[in-house]
Amino acid sequence: MRLSTLLSFTTLGSLAAAQGFGNSTIFPLSTDSQFSFSLQVVLAQSDGYGSNPSEVLTAAANITASDFESYYEAFNYLGTRIYNISQQINSTKFAVSAREALFRSASYFRASVTYLYGNVTDPRLYSLWDQQATAFDAAIALLPVPGYRVNITGPGFSVPIIFYPASNDGVERPTALAGTGYDGSQEDLLHTLGFEILSRGYNFVTYEGPGQPTPRRDQQLGFIPQWENVVTPVVDYLVSHPKVDADAMALVGVSFGGQLAPIVAAHEHRFAAVLLYDGLWSIFEQLEVEWPSQLIELYNNSQVQEFDEAVLAVAANASYPTDFRWFIQQGLWSFKTSSPYNLLQQLSQYTLTTELLQNITCPVFVGMGLDDASSVSAPQVAEAIGDKATLFRFVSDIGAGEHCQVGAESYLASVTMDWFQGVLDDRNAARFAGNFTSVPSIKGRARGL
Ligand SMILES: *[C@@H]1O[C@H](CO)[C@@H](O)[C@H](O)[C@H]1NC(C)=O
Ligand SMILES: *[C@@H]1O[C@H](CO)[C@@H](O)[C@H](O)[C@H]1NC(C)=O
Ligand SMILES: *[C@@H]1O[C@H](CO)[C@@H](O)[C@H](O)[C@H]1NC(C)=O
Ligand SMILES: *[C@@H]1O[C@H](CO)[C@@H](O)[C@H](O)[C@H]1NC(C)=O
Ligand SMILES: *[C@@H]1O[C@H](CO)[C@@H](O)[C@H](O)[C@H]1NC(C)=O
Ligand SMILES: *[C@@H]1O[C@H](CO)[C@@H](O)[C@H](O)[C@H]1NC(C)=O
Ligand SMILES: *[C@@H]1O[C@H](CO)[C@@H](O)[C@H](O)[C@H]1NC(C)=O
Ligand SMILES: *[C@@H]1O[C@H](CO)[C@@H](O)[C@H](O)[C@H]1NC(C)=O
Ligand SMILES: *[C@@H]1O[C@H](CO)[C@@H](O)[C@H](O)[C@H]1NC(C)=O
Ligand SMILES: *[C@@H]1O[C@H](CO)[C@@H](O)[C@H](O)[C@H]1NC(C)=O
Repeated sequence: MRLSTLLSFTTLGSLAAAQGFGNSTIFPLSTDSQFSFSLQVVLAQSDGYGSNPSEVLTAAANITASDFESYYEAFNYLGTRIYNISQQINSTKFAVSAREALFRSASYFRASVTYLYGNVTDPRLYSLWDQQATAFDAAIALLPVPGYRVNITGPGFSVPIIFYPASNDGVERPTALAGTGYDGSQEDLLHTLGFEILSRGYNFVTYEGPGQPTPRRDQQLGFIPQWENVVTPVVDYLVSHPKVDADAMALVGVSFGGQLAPIVAAHEHRFAAVLLYDGLWSIFEQLEVEWPSQLIELYNNSQVQEFDEAVLAVAANASYPTDFRWFIQQGLWSFKTSSPYNLLQQLSQYTLTTELLQNITCPVFVGMGLDDASSVSAPQVAEAIGDKATLFRFVSDIGAGEHCQVGAESYLASVTMDWFQGVLDDRNAARFAGNFTSVPSIKGRARGL
């Protein structure tokens, strides 16, 4: 079927908004709303040493709307340039300077790959990721309390994690285990959440499962719906870790991770709390409502070939909105399929149910970004969880309404981590009948490392 008979530019324009990135109240960094959002994501990492605003804004000025190669070029240039600067620094003598340059270089290499997934044989998907990992690993080794990678053995696959201890002391501490979603990386999470969490005295741990950047590359694995199989082996590792207070672990799910974390928590009951940035019932059901009805009819009627041809033609055509093209290209890569029909079928397997959510036994923080159309289902998630859920609306007047609260990292951390401490305090109050002693604070590990 010819695409033009199926879709109009206007319906795809509203589709872009429906995917959550079109309604932003933030000053745009590109006329391309998807580029604007992904530039905000890189800019936001400046909260935690992952970028500098003027570097990102310089790249933004060189990026042309809809031109995926221009996005690559601007960030590859920055990644290389800042990496070169890092290599001129004696990292023994000037550890802070070397570390900061390495972190920013790594972020820019990651950013440079964002729009290259349309061609899964493009060798840059691998080479740029290696460059970011080299820079990032050198940087975390230079932290005052170094972070380190571990591969956890899961059922039929390996789960790469990064452990960032809050301190060098021998105290068991509360620990946040964070995982992201459809496209993010565990490295990004250090800059958006990690330093905020570490500075509050909690250990920070990130993981990636099948479909996510490192397992997708190293093990050639796409996403799997049994996400508890990814996280439970990590929990097994954490509960016996000498620095982890096994009674004070939080699971954090970011973006599509906000749909994955409840799946985990329904089966894995060792978390003291679960936090969703934001609550997400079903990407699939959202697409069903928001995508042009002609397209969904093809899907509903199992017209696989017609559906795939139509979607692939749009994904390959630069005159259509980047939002949609990116969603398809990224999804085909992460779910390891060449068929958009199959992508939707896979996505439908993650839809939450009330029965599942009622199996969660701990308190759950359910975020909702009021500028983010993809978090419209957050109240539905909170309602199905019931009394254990706290629904929190992140508002736009202070710029906190974006998808995952991008750009409002300080506020996000204060709201969520203070809530988490409250959960621990309540539990300890109940357990020790007033004998709670708080975790010793860590001096010198505040925001300025
Ligand atoms: C921006 O583009 C100009 C012109 O192509 C180029 O000379 C310059 O190096 C680019 N700067 C960055 C930071 O990519
Ligand atoms: C980085 O350094 C390499 C090796 O010295 C050099 O070839 C390259 O031009 C430099 N790139 C930038 C963007 O500075
Ligand atoms: C780097 O700094 C250390 C500590 O000051 C010094 O011992 C070492 O010689 C320096 N290395 C280079 C290559 O200058
Ligand atoms: C995909 O990348 C490979 C390797 O760079 C290249 O040979 C091929 O032409 C590319 N395909 C498309 C459709 O651009
Ligand atoms: C984890 O496994 C990958 C291969 O899948 C390997 O390249 C990497 O070095 C391993 N990392 C650690 C910390 O063992
Ligand atoms: C597709 O199927 C779903 C589930 O049966 C239904 O809710 C939806 O209305 C259908 N959409 C279209 C456009 O036919
Ligand atoms: C891309 O889409 C535009 C707008 O629908 C259309 O005019 C053009 O022919 C398409 N290009 C290709 C290569 O299909
Ligand atoms: C919820 O837990 C009950 C009891 O353990 C179990 O039988 C049921 O299968 C679980 N439901 C889901 C959807 O996981
Ligand atoms: C986004 O804007 C559209 C059109 O103005 C509106 O219908 C929709 O409710 C908005 N979405 C959100 C999440 O504010
Ligand atoms: C609380 O502290 C008091 C005084 O130190 C002690 O006697 C009591 O056993 C403690 N209770 C619990 C439950 O730890």
